[in-house]
Amino acid sequence: MGFDLTRLLAARRGSGYELHARYLNPQLPRVLHAIGFTKMYERAEGAYLYDHDGNRYLDLLAGFGVAGIGRNHPVVRQALRDVLDAELADLVQFDCALLPGLLAERLLAYAPGLDRVFFCNSGTEAVEAALKFARCATGRPRIIYFDHAFHGLTAGSLSVNGAGEFRCGFGPLLPDTAIPFGDLDALERELGQDDVAALLVEPIQGKGVHIPPEGFLIAAQHLLRERGALLICDEVQTGIGRTGRFFSYQHEGLDPDIVTIAKALSGGFIPVGATLAKEWIFAKVYSSMDRLLVHDSTFGANAAAMAAGLATLAVIEDEALVENAERTGRLLRDALAALTERYDLLAEVRGRGLMVGLEFAKPRSWRLQPHWAMVQKARQGLFAQMVVMALFARHRVLTQVAADRLEVIKLLPPLTVGEADVAWFLTAFTDVMDDAHRTGGLTWEFGRTLISQALLH
Ligand SMILES: Cc1ncc(COP(=O)(O)O)c(C=O)c1O
Repeated sequence: MGFDLTRLLAARRGSGYELHARYLNPQLPRVLHAIGFTKMYERAEGAYLYDHDGNRYLDLLAGFGVAGIGRNHPVVRQALRDVLDAELADLVQFDCALLPGLLAERLLAYAPGLDRVFFCNSGTEAVEAALKFARCATGRPRIIYFDHAFHGLTAGSLSVNGAGEFRCGFGPLLPDTAIPFGDLDALERELGQDDVAALLVEPIQGKGVHIPPEGFLIAAQHLLRERGALLICDEVQTGIGRTGRFFSYQHEGLDPDIVTIAKALSGGFIPVGATLAKEWIFAKVYSSMDRLLVHDSTFGANAAAMAAGLATLAVIEDEALVENAERTGRLLRDALAALTERYDLLAEVRGRGLMVGLEFAKPRSWRLQPHWAMVQKARQGLFAQMVVMALFARHRVLTQVAADRLEVIKLLPPLTVGEADVAWFLTAFTDVMDDAHRTGGLTWEFGRTLISQALLH
């Protein structure tokens, strides 16, 4: 009688895939079966997942970056226990709770030039706030974004999504404008129309792990300032230490007007998002007492998210995780870059800190070309997916393709990974790539299996 979570989990153990197939988005279990991702994880710690038999998996995708400080970090768990035990008066709404103030104070200390914070519950909500703030502050309607950009999937964020497959079926969206990534002339042309509120940019584009051309962002910032438009940096994926700086825009010496964060901020436990902005922008949006609630979110500054956020920032400092992202990221990228000499199929390694892209391309070797042509004909991006499958099946390493139909794998590990994890990945990757360069290798078998799956049709 009553509710007993432990008993419920034990009683229904192993039925997750079946329940998803029956009651949730049924395409998830279909896709996972097709790519051989059918494990049920029972436990997680740091950068590792454990299945029912106690096998350990190296998680190099960290829940799309949510598990930045690693999973189930004891400091965040303790903070969450403490916040429950404190029996706080949470979400009263007509009070000024302490925890949001403390987290805002800590976050702004990482962001000189930004003055105020709006808290919400996800990356896309942080972007929605940024879009509204930019329009309100400038009195202009249009947002410029980049081809292939990803900023979330609610209607406003979808209007600035640079990938047709996400937008398809959901129009009409807001009349915003995409320009090629890194094209300063295109930006200047659009700014010439004097109706642009802001440029929205991921300082490293998540889709494909693309870094803008050297000097582009600072030149863009200059143009925007000249024309009275704002620079919004979407740091939902790149922020909180991921790229070896607290914010990725700090590599470029930028002074953005608005910054969005989410994902890693609450240690992987509680949904959270935040929009940081300059004082004058808040002054325009919340310009009078009447406009107190003009942009708000009921759960936005809830105590659990705020406490988890404070604990996460403490872990990042205590364990020097930003520095580790820089150091271990460099180790990983240097070792992988050296492999482009050895592997015909590996074209490029790029990224910053622990955000790494591995791009595959048509081999020069005539021996491999028919195999490459076979998988390209079936579906672009299939080779990268085969490598992901082989890394998982043969080495218990979890990775992801950087987007549909791209021959790019994206590595986004917890910032806690060290030399042993890099060695684990390198052993796995070299084994899979050695195999892929043998024309009869098992990796190509994965391709044949995938081609026979409904997934490709
Ligand atoms: C750069 C960027 N912005 C926004 C989002 C949306 O975040 P969420 O899924 O929390 O809405 C993502 C998610 O991957 C992202 O990578």
